[in-house]
Amino acid sequence: MLINNWYVAACAHEVQQGKPLGVKMLGMDFVLFRDAQGSAVCLSGVCCHRGGVLSDGLINDGCVACPYHGWEFAGDGACVKIPALGEGAKIPKRGRVDSYPVQEKYGWVWTFLGDLPEEKRPAIPDLFPEYDDTQNWRRMPFQFEAKCNWMRMEENSLDTAHTNFVHRAFGARHAPALEASLIEETEWGARVARTKPAPKTEQKSGDMAHLLQKGRKNTSVNLEFSVIGVCHRINPTFRPGMSLITFTARTPIDAYRTRAIGWQARNYLMAPEHDAERMALIDEAVREDLSVVEKVQPPLTPKSLSHEFLTETDGMEVAFRKAVWRAASQGWEIDRQAFEQERLTRVLVIPSPARRADPKNWIHKSVPLIAPHVDAASRSAAE
Ligand code: FES
Ligand SMILES: [Fe+2]
Repeated sequence: MLINNWYVAACAHEVQQGKPLGVKMLGMDFVLFRDAQGSAVCLSGVCCHRGGVLSDGLINDGCVACPYHGWEFAGDGACVKIPALGEGAKIPKRGRVDSYPVQEKYGWVWTFLGDLPEEKRPAIPDLFPEYDDTQNWRRMPFQFEAKCNWMRMEENSLDTAHTNFVHRAFGARHAPALEASLIEETEWGARVARTKPAPKTEQKSGDMAHLLQKGRKNTSVNLEFSVIGVCHRINPTFRPGMSLITFTARTPIDAYRTRAIGWQARNYLMAPEHDAERMALIDEAVREDLSVVEKVQPPLTPKSLSHEFLTETDGMEVAFRKAVWRAASQGWEIDRQAFEQERLTRVLVIPSPARRADPKNWIHKSVPLIAPHVDAASRSAAE
């Protein structure tokens, strides 16, 4: 799992002014709420006093109050009140928890889990510019949790070949060969445009079947991912002017569980009464994917490309692994084994930007990281 990345923590409406929200990301606890101005705040979720879980507390004047002894923490993470010490007690600098940069985009609260200063932080990807165009696109939110690793989950979405075998409604099992397509690398990810045979007419049902009944040819699919936010956009066009966009972000809950949050937008059958049919198809596709991906072995993506028999049709998955490994090579990968050991007796947290200026005055320790190294893609090429 990577630090120094943006992750979607929650939907914007779930983060409230009067009530803290607990969220698990990268195996750690966070608390989200809105300060007195209504700005979303994300703090490390464990109290620096004696480990109370802040999301079980209350919000007082835009601060979160720990449920154990009532210490209050402001949006910048500083403890501003220790009730047992009495009014006006001086609170040492160490009385604080990490506070993470937050941005709201696409109706979601994105949190930057890492210590990079603002000028070095990558931008949240612009992979869903249609978000505000509600004239031309009808969008629906979806969310689910998967009992599998975030990389395994994301590789599944970037893999075009699997659709023909895993998905009843849109796979083309009768024509599974994939055309070779050029994969174009982007700064933090890659994109590809593919053309694939349409599924058989009898695979479709409901309103969609009526629309696509006659003269349907190939489907063109544009696919793009970014390791920033671990998000991707899948954009099939069934016939000119008839498209779907699925934009999804993955947040690792821990190494073995992943939360997906997404939007699906369509530019046909835009009336709300068609939502239920689309929603049912999303649920079906998620169930189909999870029935395979939650069982894939090994549970974590191998560290070398040579540990699986990859072919040219796995190009986007390989591009994804390389993008993750490039980020890891900067020293941004959590040392999972050291973390599992040490966390039993010590609270470990993602370092926040304030630690750069003042690395000392903290109670909780930064999570152990794998040191910067030559990235695994170059390593595996040499193996
Ligand atoms: S543990 Fe949070 S106030 Fe004591
Ligand atoms: Fe799938």
